[in-house]
Amino acid sequence: MTTSLLEGLPLIVETSPEWAPLACSRLDEVLRDHAWCEYKAASAGLGLMARFPESEFLHRPMVALVQEEMLHFRQVTDLLKERGVSLGAPLPDPYVKKLRGLLCAKGSGIGGLGDHLIVNAFIEARSCERFRVLSKALAEGTEEERTLSDFYQRLADAEGRHWESFRDLAMEVCPEEVVLRRIHEAAEIEAELISEMPIEARMH
Ligand SMILES: [Fe+2]
Ligand SMILES: [Fe+2]
Repeated sequence: MTTSLLEGLPLIVETSPEWAPLACSRLDEVLRDHAWCEYKAASAGLGLMARFPESEFLHRPMVALVQEEMLHFRQVTDLLKERGVSLGAPLPDPYVKKLRGLLCAKGSGIGGLGDHLIVNAFIEARSCERFRVLSKALAEGTEEERTLSDFYQRLADAEGRHWESFRDLAMEVCPEEVVLRRIHEAAEIEAELISEMPIEARMH
């Protein structure tokens, strides 16, 4: 039985088939970028609490998220160390920057915190999909690649949970039907953006 790599996610387009072979051929670069993605995900969680201090219901789920993302950061940096690769400096992330710009534009979404929660939900969902793609591509490889495939499957499951958490938090801020409608619109916007992005040895 084959299941779609988009199963359970709000995304409507899969990653280009050209990405996986490129990513597998330049795994060290992908892992470096991935490590910084985990760091940025933790940072985004911290940022939400500071930006919306009146929304105390965010504290517990964001602290849990930050702890899990930092664990992922540590796991990926450990992998880099094992491979003898230095982490290096973070690169700008045009996908995330453009997605935030598009989904948080004033007057276009569901407002303030709701928009930020939906952007984070989509970043988690796309990360989940990319991890699934990578896990599948590495599953038939060497023993080392198969170990990495299992690792990416576990991370994909975590990012899948994170997408759901952000969606559920958005539903605490806005009525469910408003959130579902916006997720539908955001999926179209994200699909157009991801299709325009260059195919690189990076996570997004
Ligand atoms: Fe993560
Ligand atoms: Fe995440």
